[in-house]
Order: sequence, then C-alpha cells, then structure tokens
Amino acid sequence: MKILSSDIVATAAGPEGYPQEGLPEIAFIGRSNVGKSSLLNRLVQRKQLARTSSTPGKTRLLHFFEVRRPDSRLLFVDLPGYGYAKVSQRERKKWQGMIERYLGEREVLRAAVLLQDLRRDPSEDETLLIDWLNEHGVPAIVALTKLDKLKPSQREARLKRVREAFPAVQADWLIATSAKTGAGLEALWRVIDSLVGDAGPAPDDAD
Ligand code: GTP
Ligand code: MG
Repeated sequence: MKILSSDIVATAAGPEGYPQEGLPEIAFIGRSNVGKSSLLNRLVQRKQLARTSSTPGKTRLLHFFEVRRPDSRLLFVDLPGYGYAKVSQRERKKWQGMIERYLGEREVLRAAVLLQDLRRDPSEDETLLIDWLNEHGVPAIVALTKLDKLKPSQREARLKRVREAFPAVQADWLIATSAKTGAGLEALWRVIDSLVGDAGPAPDDAD
C-alpha cells in the first residue's frame, strides 16, 4: 500500500465543518481505547497523524484526514470513541447525535470500519451499531484490533467467536489487525480500495 501523503484537513462537530471537495470517505468508529488512532496512523504510515493517547475518550470531534495514494485520494474520518463510562449521559447523547448524523447523512461515505478489540466479546454497543449501519445502507467492515496481544494458539477461537457475534458482516470484511505488527493492514486496504475504487480524483500535484 503506497501512501504519498496524509494530513488532517478538517475537524468538525457537524455538517458545516465537513470538507466539501467530494472525496470518498471511510469512517472509523469504536469504543474508547480500542486502538483506533493507532490503527489509523499505521494505515497511513504516519507516527502521529491521529493522536494516540493513553487517556480514554480523548478524541471528541470528527477528524478528517486526506490520504493521497498514487491513483486516488480519499478521506479517513476518525469518529469519537464511545462507551467511555466516565462521561455524562448528556455528553453521550451529544456524541451519538454527532456520529449518527454523519453516518446517516454523509453522501460521500463509502463504508464504516467498526473497531473491536479481538480479546473482548462485542457488546450491544457494537452489535446495535452494525444493525444501524445495515439499516442505513452503510457498508460495515469490522477491524479486530490488537491481534498481537493474543497467543497464536488463541487467535482462531477468538476469531470464530467474534464472527458469530457479527453474522451480518461478510467473512472477508472481518479482519484481524495489529497496529503494532502491521498484521491485517494489507487486507483492510484491499477492502477499502474495493469500495473507493479510483473514484478519487488523481492528485493535482506530485508532492
Ligand atoms: P481514544 O482515542 O482514547 O478513544 O483511543 P483509541 O481507540 O484511539 O486508542 P489508541 O490508538 O490511543 O490506543 C489505545 C492503547 O492501546 C494505546 O496504549 C496503544 O498503544 C494500544 N494499542 C493500540 N493498538 C494496539 C495494537 O495493535 N497492539 C498493541 N499491543 N497495543 C495497541
Ligand atoms: Mg484516538
């Protein structure tokens, strides 16, 4: 996967702040601390593009990253982490509104990548989100994170269990990944590419 450049182009709470160029978008969503920023950074081969943090729940707005590849441009959208117990009900509702508005109304959205820690069973937050995406016609990819934290002997059983929790997700759209080793990232890029195609205009300059 060749990446020419990747840069943050917008941070927004609502539609007025979304980029207007019409590039295809892939959104990333998951529970706080699932490894979303780490995976995003690794996918675009940057160390600190999406801020990683050991403080759960730190990413609270929509962050749009433009990714330039040799034949296309696209945007990755880092959605706020959810399921962080220490925020108020009111704040949760606010985040949920922001996320659902984006996922439900964004025309250039090609797919949502739900991140799920491979070591944990999906909760209702995750299964309801997949249902919601299906109902709204948003293709759903599941990236299982932190594969390296499991012993090789445990991996198959965990994968099988998580697959069973997401019966509506097609088999090759459920991908075990590691931001630490890079495992699964080529496979994830292949699925993303199949959805984005070369719909993004070619880069307008070569830097
Ligand atoms: P918030 O933005 O705070 O909601 O978290 P996040 O989902 O962006 O998670 P982040 O990438 O900040 O990672 C959370 C913690 O998990 C950090 O300590 C990371 O170093 C660690 N981590 C993330 N991905 C991996 C992985 O693939 N393997 C291992 N071993 N650790 C990981
Ligand atoms: Mg983050």
